[in-house]
Amino acid sequence: MSEAVAVAHPNIALTKYWGKRPGAGRFPAVPSLSVTLAGLSTRTRVRFDQALAADRVVLNGVPADGEVEARAVELLARVRAASGDPRFAEVETRNDFPTASGLASSASGFAALALAAAKASGLAWDAARVSDLARQSSVSAARSLFGGYVELDAGTVAGGSPASDFLAARPIAPGGHLPLAVLVCVTSEGAKAIGSTTGMQTTLNESPYAEAWLSHAPRLHARLRAALLARDFAAMGALAESSALAMHASAIAAGVVYWTGATLEALQAVRGLRAAGVLAFATVDAGPHVKILVQPEDAARVKATAGAVPGVRRVIEASIGEGACIDATAAGVRAEAGVEAAKAS
Ligand code: PMV
Repeated sequence: MSEAVAVAHPNIALTKYWGKRPGAGRFPAVPSLSVTLAGLSTRTRVRFDQALAADRVVLNGVPADGEVEARAVELLARVRAASGDPRFAEVETRNDFPTASGLASSASGFAALALAAAKASGLAWDAARVSDLARQSSVSAARSLFGGYVELDAGTVAGGSPASDFLAARPIAPGGHLPLAVLVCVTSEGAKAIGSTTGMQTTLNESPYAEAWLSHAPRLHARLRAALLARDFAAMGALAESSALAMHASAIAAGVVYWTGATLEALQAVRGLRAAGVLAFATVDAGPHVKILVQPEDAARVKATAGAVPGVRRVIEASIGEGACIDATAAGVRAEAGVEAAKAS
């Protein structure tokens, strides 16, 4: 088969990956634990075609910009190297959620691209190998291959060189283990000022708190993982908020400031909710938007509060979702059409 369609969902890190391991490759310096979101998706079609003279990448109906295209082409080149099939590919990818929503479209985008490209090129890879492929384009994308709660270890270094070149995420609990709702408080519509790759590099190179972050993050991760496995929502939420605050504190000290006034207003509103007895916790990624973690029964009330915060433009509600998958119907229809065409000729 030389064509496949994959669907993947964004994920929100409860313990943050922030910083790459020294040396070559895209390996995280700290472990992370995320939850995959339902209801928001990226759908990607990959078609390898011998008539193409170069890869073509179309994102939301228009040619992808230089950096996104370059990263997609790198991924396709890795797939060609693995499959031995030299054909170029046409990639059509579309997000059904707003690009400036603060939901990392690179996570769902590269997860869907990795899965569709591996499938279209006939590689019989399991989800872990596809996760490793996605990680090489965007670390957070490695986690979107799986549903529910997902963990990604830090990249290991042994004797100054990588102990292994393979690093995949793995699912650690289904969403039903500890249900939660994520309320994405959208505070601005523009693209973020500092990309995450630059932001994390600057943090590790220039922050006086870089060492503190690198040693503290794994401890927070181990505690949050234990709280999740114990189904302790209050402890898990508090640790998720701590992880985000520690990540941003280290970044801010290097001049990497993603927050705006609206970010602080929303964080304050979350503290106000807790003071009123509601179990609500905040997390913030490499942007100004605040994501509130609540138990599903509190979602409606907290959404109303969040929507009234000055500077919050709208609130998107998401629940826990599934891992990336191949849309067999889409690929099947085309494959069958191809078989019919071949028979007719
Ligand atoms: O993998 P990237 O380049 O999309 O970086 C993700 C960074 C954070 O979203 C801030 C944290 C995370 O673990 O997803």
